[in-house]
Amino acid sequence: MEHLEAQIDKQRLPRHIAIIMDGNGRWAQEQGQDRLFGHFHGVESVRNIVEGCAELGVEYLTLYAFSTENWDRPEYEVNGLMELLVDTIRRETETLNKNNIKLHVIGDRRMLSEAVNKELDESLEITGQNTGLNLIMALSYSGRWELVNAVRNIAADVEAGRLKAAEVDQATLQQYLWTSEYPDPELMIRTSGEYRISNFLLFQLAYAELYFTNTRWPDFRKKHLYEAILDFQNRERRFGKTSAQITNDPL
Ligand code: IPE
Ligand code: IPE
Ligand code: MG
Repeated sequence: MEHLEAQIDKQRLPRHIAIIMDGNGRWAQEQGQDRLFGHFHGVESVRNIVEGCAELGVEYLTLYAFSTENWDRPEYEVNGLMELLVDTIRRETETLNKNNIKLHVIGDRRMLSEAVNKELDESLEITGQNTGLNLIMALSYSGRWELVNAVRNIAADVEAGRLKAAEVDQATLQQYLWTSEYPDPELMIRTSGEYRISNFLLFQLAYAELYFTNTRWPDFRKKHLYEAILDFQNRERRFGKTSAQITNDPL
């Protein structure tokens, strides 16, 4: 593992990594266990990956923890996940703080219970002055809803005369997203062998490098993170240009 970490070029780290933490349920069921058992073990991976990103010097880490669509899961699972969330935040805030990690939350917080919001507010407040890794939790998050919400607010500002319709451009839209303060993710990882975006950061992932692995989230550790980053560093990000333009090759 140290061998893998040593291969990473620290000067070319992705500034922002986004992860769809998928496969908890299957991981548990494959062992004859309840799905919640998988979510419980997924927390261990979160801890490990947050630590890994902080050690490397990654600036932003966005974790997709709960989608708007996940509210439609059986009540038992939703309640279990929410309890786990409250417990985890309560237990981990001190560690986040000690490691200079700043928590952020994106998503429709109105859908979350009072207990969850209270726990989140406390942790946001406690870690608010930290200057290390920015840990962005996507909770009750939907990329489409984020865009609709942004368009609505832009329309309201146009209506109120604060903004001119003709002046709305990509940068304007970006400023109305929940992620306005963060750079776009450069690397998006999805675990558990699913090849889809599932309503995650639809606008922000436009030019992200996508990395898919069969590893289930509860098995995902720093070693897997290093593999993803190394894969990222071996890619050529062209942004619509030709390879020669990128490498300054005279041909
Ligand atoms: C991801 O694991 C965690 C959440 C969506 C909350 P899943 O619960 O989706 O696990 P699978 O995909 O059913 O295995
Ligand atoms: C995406 O996983 C959401 C999170 C990881 C929080 P899902 O398991 O809910 O996505 P689908 O249903 O397979 O697309
Ligand atoms: Mg899933």
